[in-house]
Amino acid sequence: MANDLKQEKMAGLKVLFATSEVAPLVKTGGLGDVSGALPAALCAIGVDVRVLVPGYRQVIAQLAQHEAVAEFDKLPDFPSARLLSGVMPNGVPLLVLDCPELYQRDGGPYQDAGGQDWSDNPLRFGLLSKIAAVLGGSASPLNWHPDLVHCNDWQTGLTPAYLHFEPGAVPSVITIHNMAFQGNFAPETVQELGLPPSCFGINGVEFHGYLSFLKAGLYYADHITTVSPNYAKEIQRAELGFGMQGLLSQRSGDLTGILNGIDTDEWNSATDKHLVKKFSAARMAGKAADKEYLQCRLGLDIVPDVPLLGVISRFTHQKGLDLLLEIAPRLIGLPVQLAMLGSGEAQMQQAAIELSYRYPGKVGVNIGFNEALAHQIEAGADMFIMPSRFEPCGLNQLYSQRYGTPPIVHSTGGLADSVVDCTAETLRDRTASGFVFKGMTAENLFVTIRRAVDLYHDQRQWKVLRKNCMAKDFSWEASAEAYRAVYLKLLGR
Ligand code: ADP
Ligand code: GLC
Repeated sequence: MANDLKQEKMAGLKVLFATSEVAPLVKTGGLGDVSGALPAALCAIGVDVRVLVPGYRQVIAQLAQHEAVAEFDKLPDFPSARLLSGVMPNGVPLLVLDCPELYQRDGGPYQDAGGQDWSDNPLRFGLLSKIAAVLGGSASPLNWHPDLVHCNDWQTGLTPAYLHFEPGAVPSVITIHNMAFQGNFAPETVQELGLPPSCFGINGVEFHGYLSFLKAGLYYADHITTVSPNYAKEIQRAELGFGMQGLLSQRSGDLTGILNGIDTDEWNSATDKHLVKKFSAARMAGKAADKEYLQCRLGLDIVPDVPLLGVISRFTHQKGLDLLLEIAPRLIGLPVQLAMLGSGEAQMQQAAIELSYRYPGKVGVNIGFNEALAHQIEAGADMFIMPSRFEPCGLNQLYSQRYGTPPIVHSTGGLADSVVDCTAETLRDRTASGFVFKGMTAENLFVTIRRAVDLYHDQRQWKVLRKNCMAKDFSWEASAEAYRAVYLKLLGR
């Protein structure tokens, strides 16, 4: 009976998932991973999800088959565009917003090849937001009508605002993946993007004199989620609210923190195509071969017993790698080796490269974005370092636990929610899964890495820790259920 009721409530729950990146088609960070995996997990529990994404050059190139399903040539304020329907490699239906003059360019989704933001980003993501809203309104040209629109981060933050003014609009949910990126633009943008002047105020899209895409989403969405329970609390306070803590605490009754899951097919050390040797909790031997391969690939000394510390990251202030670079000389003396992959701020990249010149054989650095190497670091490293100043959720610490590579993390956001610090007690009760430090200082990071290195040399305890990590369940199922509960509540079902 209860099951019938559930089925009935579920019947035909349709969600438009609007996002600016979706792995594996286009990814600059965790948003891409989440947009690739969450819709699939929702489909698996019976939700009918379609993902809306801009038709960047690389997206169009990877669409095996597609069909034009709608034309938008009469939207005032926007260039003509069309919608192509396609399918993701994981089977999730895709709606690609094709507008060559806005999206088909060399470079990244948000920036040109030189790292400068595209100057027409307001128009590029204004159009994406607008189309998501049109599809959620009664004038949608599609036969498929969503029950709600789920948008993500500032790039689709205007959707709830457009929906507010759209006839017959469905409700909206916005997920905050990172409060630090807000999409704030000059006030004239309000008119340029066809928003009514009346919405430019504190009770609307304005944020300190600017049009803020994120603020618009947070103000107009019917529900707000973010990617960990801890971050949901942190963003209601001044330190991590990036100026929007007031609005978020006013709306705390409409704010839910749901921890991200991971794609357990993509991140599975027993089947990972990028690894020279596969391994699993029951058969760990392959991990040593993956370490040797990684050492070889990054020009590190081939030594099995020196702990190898992995880093995969955007090189930005958020990620706290400046602390790691500062203590690197002391770390090398412990001794440890360092394998770093990432790109971002030029100064940080330069500092990492200099470190590798200063410590040949001890520090290996690869500047760039490299999916295969990211998997190889997760597998080949002994520990994973993530000293983020703030971290809404973080995915690498989840991947690393699954790959038996205990993470060393700052106690913030989703890192605090997903890593259990190793102590005598947590080792005893088998909950320990990494090392967590409080207080964002280089010394605290150093002491914590040294604590991890000491434990590493106690092979019996280290094996226990690795086993605990690998036994944890970070699959998307539970989180997908939590999103579905948010949708159903919002729809009053
Ligand atoms: P964020 O989204 O803030 O960058 P997350 O930990 O949520 O942080 O997600 C980052 C994702 O991007 C992970 O899948 C990670 O492996 C990947 N990633 C980051 N930098 C690189 C890189 N240089 N090469 C390959 N993958 C990377
Ligand atoms: C953002 C956050 C990261 C999170 C990711 C996916 O990029 O910085 O912590 O894991 O989004 O939600």
